[in-house]
Amino acid sequence: MCGIVGYIGGRSALPVLMDGLKRLEYRGYDSAGVAYINGNGIEIKKTKGRIEDLRKILPLPAPEAKIGVGHTRWATHGAPSDRNAHPHVCGGIVVVHNGIIENYRDLKTRLASEGHEFASDTDTEVIPRLISSHMQKGLPFEDAIKKTLSDLRGSYALGIMSQECPEKLYAVRNGSPLIIGVGLDEFFFASDIPAFLQFTKKFIFLEDGQMCIMSRGQARLEPLEPAGSSKSMGVVIPGKTGVEDGPKVVEIDWTPEMAEKEGYDYFMLKEIYEQPGTVRDTMREWLDNPVTMLDSLGITPKMILGLTRLHIAACGTSYHAALVAKYIIEALAHMPVDVEIASEFRHREQLIEKNNLFISITQSGETADTLAAQREASKKGAFTLTICNVVGSTASREADSVLYTRAGPEIGVASTKAFTAQLAALCLIAIVLGMKRGRLIAAEAETLISQLRKMPLLIEKALACEQQTMEIADRIKGSRSMLYLGRGINYPIALEGALKLKEISYIHAEGYPAGEMKHGPIALIESGLPVVVVAPMNNLFEKTLSNIEEVKARGGRVIVITDEPLGLRAMADEVIEVPPAHTALSPFLNVIPLQLLAFWSGVLNGNDVDKPRNLAKSVTVE
Ligand code: M6R
Repeated sequence: MCGIVGYIGGRSALPVLMDGLKRLEYRGYDSAGVAYINGNGIEIKKTKGRIEDLRKILPLPAPEAKIGVGHTRWATHGAPSDRNAHPHVCGGIVVVHNGIIENYRDLKTRLASEGHEFASDTDTEVIPRLISSHMQKGLPFEDAIKKTLSDLRGSYALGIMSQECPEKLYAVRNGSPLIIGVGLDEFFFASDIPAFLQFTKKFIFLEDGQMCIMSRGQARLEPLEPAGSSKSMGVVIPGKTGVEDGPKVVEIDWTPEMAEKEGYDYFMLKEIYEQPGTVRDTMREWLDNPVTMLDSLGITPKMILGLTRLHIAACGTSYHAALVAKYIIEALAHMPVDVEIASEFRHREQLIEKNNLFISITQSGETADTLAAQREASKKGAFTLTICNVVGSTASREADSVLYTRAGPEIGVASTKAFTAQLAALCLIAIVLGMKRGRLIAAEAETLISQLRKMPLLIEKALACEQQTMEIADRIKGSRSMLYLGRGINYPIALEGALKLKEISYIHAEGYPAGEMKHGPIALIESGLPVVVVAPMNNLFEKTLSNIEEVKARGGRVIVITDEPLGLRAMADEVIEVPPAHTALSPFLNVIPLQLLAFWSGVLNGNDVDKPRNLAKSVTVE
């Protein structure tokens, strides 16, 4: 969704804001804008397009403003255009917004009856207009903000500043992520941590219903209570953090370099190549003593023995990791696992009971549907565990327990390293559950653990197919449609391969269980249609070979991912070899060529693979 940033301090605000926006551009890139206050009052620059388009219309040299806000937009209300770009302003009050104001139509009608003429089609514009309207009726600025917020329904993270109060910057959170960066004599706010990692590693994670009022010397937290009340929730004074009753300041161990491309042309490719390390980092804490893992997550032996069912909810790529987990957990721990897309989970009757465990899987920890599913499960009395990549994110704060993946910042909109890190976390959970429930004998557990230890090395070997995937991508780049087939635990990998391809190459792709092909999708096969088949050597191999024959007989162009290439070379048009692995762990390796194939298809089709059209990295609206 959108990204917002703000700065107040001793530096020149504009370069700081532009740097922050650039690092948040993955959240939306339909338009961009900044506002700052200098000797001339408020200046606003905004434009349709990307941060680089905004840069072209900024004054040079940068004006001497020490306070400002910025926005990069993923359009929800109103087309991507100059007029709909943020910031929005009314009466010297400037607002940037990430989220959706659900009752904006009613508010707009009310404001229009007071004589307000709207300059955009956005939901956001009602906010500065409401603040201004309340001030005209006599409320002081801060009270007018609070009164306005009590008028709003929906989700928002807001940055607000006023020409009349140029020494203060306001940040408000209700349902959309927002963090405050604490520097020395300066403060930042942003939708996500990488925005200001180059300036500070100290962050406050705002909670819903909190407002942070920043000046150069201090930041004060207040609850969004009715106008007139200002019960402080604590003050942070840079350099003196640790004030007893002050808000919690968390030190993040990500480095700015982790959020850089480090010589790669694309974040996505860099992140694909980081996977040996990120899988290793995710498992590091547990591999030597896996049995302690669930205990330290608060899932006690008593709970495990009483568990009757596991529910997992997630979206997109994280949902595909959940599907893989179902196969592994049911096989190793003999426990029924229900997996559901989070946006579906929350809108139907859930048969969750107290002795159920609920797991949410989310890279960002901010996906609105996943958060809603987690809240629903919690309300129904389930113990909630989130598998999450972002420390301090909403999912991690709200769940009963968190298992962090250690993938580092994932910037490419198409998720890659987060997926394999999630698989690593889920495999460990499955093994430990299996052991603790007496379903997995020690020797088999040891075989799996020792193969997990080797996984970083095996992933490195799988990455050797990059050149081949580039050549195949070149041969299929004119295709309008593709099929991805897999069986058993590799069916979710077919889904994931198809999702990656459509996201960044814009080629239509369907993932299907290979055995289901004859029930419909086989009608799509015609001469030259590329069909990717995931065919590891396991008990389903021969059945998959029959599916390959069926595709070939109808003229399809077969691209096989396998650890058993010999027999397949004569049958398939392209054979991509990956190292052999235990069936339960084969998804780690089979997904690698699919990520690379999608990457190169996107690049060769001339697309910006890090920022595919219409998408945003973290989907914080429902
Ligand atoms: O941050 P989350 O894991 O909750 O995000 C879920 C999906 O939005 C995400 O996986 C999305 O599908 C990616 N673009 C897939 O590459």
